[in-house]
Amino acid sequence: MEINFVRVSQKKFKGKPNMGAYEKVYPNFKWEDVHDEVEWFDGGKLNQAYNTIDKHRNTWRKNKVALYWEGDDGSTKKFTFLEMSNLSNKFANVLKSNGIKKGDRIFIFLSRIPENYISFLGILKMGGIAGTMFAAFGPEAVKDRLLDSDAVAVVTDVKLKPRIDQVRKDLPSLKHVFVVGGKDLKKESGELSFDEELAKASRDFEVEKMNPDDVAFMQYTSGSTGKPKGVMHTHGGMAQQHITAKWVLDLKDEDIYWCTSDPGWITGIIYTILGAWSNGVSQLIFDGRFDPDRWYSLIEKYQVNVWYTAPTALRMLMSSGEDVPKKYNMKSLRHICSVGEPLNPEPIRWAHKVFGLWVHDTWWQTETGSMLICNYPKMDMKVGYMGKPFPGITASIRDENGNEVKPGVEGDLCLQPGWPSMFNGVWKNEEKYKSYLKNGWYVTGDKAKMDPDGYFIYVGRGDDVIKTAGERVGPFEIESVLIEHPAVAEAGVIGKPDPEGIRGEIIKAFLVLRKGHTPSKELEDDIRKFIKTRLAGHMYPKEIEFRDTLPRTQSGKIMRRVLKAQELGLPTGDLSTIEK
Ligand code: WT7
Repeated sequence: MEINFVRVSQKKFKGKPNMGAYEKVYPNFKWEDVHDEVEWFDGGKLNQAYNTIDKHRNTWRKNKVALYWEGDDGSTKKFTFLEMSNLSNKFANVLKSNGIKKGDRIFIFLSRIPENYISFLGILKMGGIAGTMFAAFGPEAVKDRLLDSDAVAVVTDVKLKPRIDQVRKDLPSLKHVFVVGGKDLKKESGELSFDEELAKASRDFEVEKMNPDDVAFMQYTSGSTGKPKGVMHTHGGMAQQHITAKWVLDLKDEDIYWCTSDPGWITGIIYTILGAWSNGVSQLIFDGRFDPDRWYSLIEKYQVNVWYTAPTALRMLMSSGEDVPKKYNMKSLRHICSVGEPLNPEPIRWAHKVFGLWVHDTWWQTETGSMLICNYPKMDMKVGYMGKPFPGITASIRDENGNEVKPGVEGDLCLQPGWPSMFNGVWKNEEKYKSYLKNGWYVTGDKAKMDPDGYFIYVGRGDDVIKTAGERVGPFEIESVLIEHPAVAEAGVIGKPDPEGIRGEIIKAFLVLRKGHTPSKELEDDIRKFIKTRLAGHMYPKEIEFRDTLPRTQSGKIMRRVLKAQELGLPTGDLSTIEK
């Protein structure tokens, strides 16, 4: 498809942006310039949770609403910065009084309820390492993360706890299970009521003073091989998370901000919890399902000004028609940003028609810890492009030998390592961490091009990683569960363009059945259910194809690229290593 790229002048950007003109800011920027955007303790120490919430309690923002919360059923709650500070202090005390120490891993398995955010901040305050898990995860996905991280505690609620119970016997390190709303809990198994513990705890807590390279949280993410890996992020990422939220999202004190991501994913951590609150903004958190009417009505009801969402969500809104948004007054919106997958020009144009605003695309990854290539309020935008590197970031397109290629030529999107929010390790997997760095560059795994004006455009993943509805899914994780199904002998999983044009890619599984099993619609459905209940809804293969054999290398590795080429009718490339 030939895309007609349009250059959009930013002269009409609403209000005075926080960031100056890109051409002036980028060349002179040094990370030291934003050092004072963070509050430091003596000796170069800091704490991300202090910078996110506590620093506001001694200012006029003390009684400002930090969180407007709304549940799926329409119930609402609100919390001021002071309340968030006190509640997270309480949870930090609870953790300590239960013998949990600095450096211990404490995971959160909750939907977007206020306790999720309170727990995250409490963990960081006492120097623990927080991990989040998407509430749609099944027992297998939960087990993988808790086991690999040797988590000592998990925070969950009555609804989700049964999924932990199913795998508890396989988790010897897990000592405490804090249950929101929990009653009649098994104390002997370390089950504690989150609410009762919090009620008993003091609201005074002195935050742990951390080194910039101390790990604050880890986020499990998928690659093309192996199970998801724990990407580690440090307290020192704060300055960059703060300044990107300030400059790219353009957050201002009078704003109501809504980020639709879940803290189970990196965007929900960095731009709901950290960067947003560090800027002192009041934000909406909606703990409910996607529904066009509901989403538009939330923008109207809360008078949302700045909205950070994803291309799939925009495409879903677009496909629900133009009459739905007409029912609502969404004039409050002044800035929309997007992340997670390629933002094609069509939803950008649609959003311009409906909201009168150009959606600003931002590119980053779990590993980068903050936005790195973006469109800025005061930089003319090319519709369909990811934008230009954030000040302090050097991006480059390189060939497989590590040489920079000319503008317009496709290559690996690489970044000069060393930006403050860059991950500083992969949990218990030094080798994996090192594999990201080649010839002195951080290799992102994305294929991209740069045009002669320095704008970057996304081409696709360079590996087998699947992006479905903005979620990053590793084929290996799905294949591993597929072959546990009693009828499945072999499995190869790929991503292919969504025929409906909504979700970016969909997941397709190629399966070889065990002897005695024959393909059928019922079997397909049973296999899908098997994945949904063990991993997560977004990981199930929408398409299943049964085969007699799968292409494998001589060493036995399934050649997903061959499956993909066959599926898309493309040349299969070099097959010299294929098993004969
Ligand atoms: C991958 C990272 C960090 C935000 C959520 C995703 C793809 C991300 C864009 C964009 C095209 C994008 C890339 C990247 N991606 N943003 N603006 N345009 N592709 O984080 O789950 O770690 O996934 O998402 O392929 O490598 P993630």
